This record gives sequence, C-alpha cells and structure tokens, in this order.
Amino acid sequence: MLLIILSVFIAHSVSHTITLLDVPRWTDPKKEAELRCQYARQPLDPPLHSVKWYKDTHEIFRYTPQELETRAFNSSGVIVTNDSCNPEECVITARPERGTSKFTCEVSSEGPRFAVDRQSANMTVAVLPEYDPLITGLPTMVQAGEQAVVNCTSDYSLPAATIDWFVDSEPQEDPLITSENHVSGADGDGLSASWRTLHVYPDDYPTQRGYLALMCRATVPTRPPNVRSMSVRLYVASRPHISTYMFSKNNALLPSSSVKTFTQYTWTLLVTVQVSIFVT
Ligand SMILES: *[C@@H]1O[C@H](CO)[C@@H](O)[C@H](O)[C@H]1NC(C)=O
Ligand SMILES: *[C@@H]1O[C@H](CO)[C@@H](O)[C@H](O)[C@H]1NC(C)=O
Ligand SMILES: *[C@@H]1O[C@H](CO)[C@@H](O)[C@H](O)[C@H]1NC(C)=O
Ligand SMILES: *[C@@H]1O[C@H](CO)[C@@H](O)[C@H](O)[C@H]1NC(C)=O
Repeated sequence: MLLIILSVFIAHSVSHTITLLDVPRWTDPKKEAELRCQYARQPLDPPLHSVKWYKDTHEIFRYTPQELETRAFNSSGVIVTNDSCNPEECVITARPERGTSKFTCEVSSEGPRFAVDRQSANMTVAVLPEYDPLITGLPTMVQAGEQAVVNCTSDYSLPAATIDWFVDSEPQEDPLITSENHVSGADGDGLSASWRTLHVYPDDYPTQRGYLALMCRATVPTRPPNVRSMSVRLYVASRPHISTYMFSKNNALLPSSSVKTFTQYTWTLLVTVQVSIFVT
C-alpha cells in the first residue's frame, strides 16, 4: 500500500502534468482555430523540457523553453499561423484541413527521466450553411384571438444548426409556443438541416403597432458560433368592433378611478385578457 502511494507520488513529482487541453470540437473552415494546453509543475519537478503539438501522428509544433525556440512544421495539412508559449501554457492557432483530426499536446520535463504527459482531443472542420434559414407558412395576416403556425428550416450544415425563435426580440422557449429542434437525416455529404415550429398567439404579446417581429436564428456550434438569421413581420388584424365593445364593457365593470390608474401597458393586457375570455 505504502509502495503504491509512494510510486503515485513519484510519478506525479517528476513530470509536468497537463491541467487543461482546450481544443474546439467544431471549427469554422474560414477561421483559425485556437488550441490551448496548460500544464503545472510540482515543486520537485525538473524544469520543462518541451511542449509538442501533434495532429494525428504528425508533429506540427514544438516549443523548447531552454533553447528559447519554437518550431512549426507545415507538412501535414495544418498550418500553424501563430503561437504564444511559456512555462505555464502553450497556445497555437492553426488552420486545419477538412475532416476530423486528433490533436495531442505532449509535455515533457527535463532529465533524468524526461517524463511525459499527453492529452488528445478531436477537432472537426464544420461545413457551414450557405443560406440564411427559411421561414415558411407565414400568413398575410392573423386575426386577434387566432394563432399563426410558422416553420423555420435551416440550410444543411455539419454539425446541424440549433434553431431559436424570437418574438419582438424575446426568446421563445415555452414548449406550447415552440416545438423541439428537429434534425433531418444526413445527406450524401453527411450534412443535416434543422427545423422548428413556432405557434404565435398574438394576444399573448403587448403589440400596439399592428405586427409582431418574428426572428428565426440558426446557430452552428463552432467557436465562435456561426449564426444566421431571418426576420419577418406577422401582421395582426385589429378588430375594432370587439375592442369598442370590450372597452365599454370594462368601463361598466370597473370603477372609473381604478381604470385611470392603469398604465397603457396594463390596459392593453386587460383588454387582451377580456378578448381571450370572449373568444373562448
Ligand atoms: C508555416 O506557415 C505559416 C503560414 O503560411 C508561416 O508563417 C510559417 O513561417 C510556416 N512555418 C514553417 C516552419 O514553414
Ligand atoms: C499572435 O499572437 C500574439 C500573442 O497572442 C498576438 O499579440 C498577435 O497579434 C498574434 N498575431 C497574429 C497575426 O494573429
Ligand atoms: C476521436 O475520434 C475517434 C474516432 O471517432 C475516436 O476513436 C477517439 O476516441 C476520439 N478521441 C478523443 C480524444 O475523443
Ligand atoms: C417544417 O419544415 C420541415 C422542412 O422544411 C418539414 O419537414 C416539416 O414537416 C415542417 N413542419 C411543419 C410543422 O410544417
């Protein structure tokens, strides 16, 4: 038992250990990816000998602090375009080729053991959508008290986009209002489209300008995210005869002093609630 504890202690005390490997899961093909490796030295560890980055089995970058040197190897489909390394971390920016690659950070300490620690992570070059998402099913006008059902479909991408709906800039998350995010099966190139439905009940929103601004946003989770959006207006018909009717009814029901204390916003809500009850 003591031996095990001792050997664990020794193993940890002769080598730098990697404390963080940060490689984006998905990367934008038009941007450089930033790969970060952080490591720690225990008090008894020898100094840092080298930090190496590998793409699959090819070494693409080496930092040797004793020689104050960094070297990039441009021969394996990855171009290292920048680097910033010190005894605590080594950050490289790289422009990778298509597909998925395994990136490894390998840290070694000076002799006598030249002990090594390494960690790997996969990074895939995303295929970004070519077009903005498409909103379909928009009616020319929706009557107050009725609902509109609209659909948003993203362009094909890898990975699939996540769709979010906004009404008058407010995100819509209620499952009664937006369906789940559906993802199509992969096409021949492995790309998928997403779609998500929005049920708009204009009565639920305090609109006073005759329309609601609907926005669909499609996000592909690269770093930074790739975001495309489409906005449309949903026109809401006013029904003057009902409004007038409700107005006089409210006046009759409520003491006039309390009516006067309502703000315009509360008043609109009140009318809205009354209209809903009337419709129901
Ligand atoms: C690798 O390519 C980058 C960008 O083209 C260049 O700046 C760098 O000098 C190259 N490094 C080597 C070792 O060829
Ligand atoms: C390279 O990295 C350094 C340090 O992070 C940064 O100051 C510099 O602007 C970068 N250069 C390019 C061309 O990105
Ligand atoms: C990278 O992907 C390969 C193939 O899908 C998988 O076998 C491997 O476990 C992954 N590696 C890491 C570090 O996630
Ligand atoms: C929304 O659009 C997608 C793809 O365009 C379609 O498969 C789906 O059936 C539509 N959903 C609704 C509720 O119209």
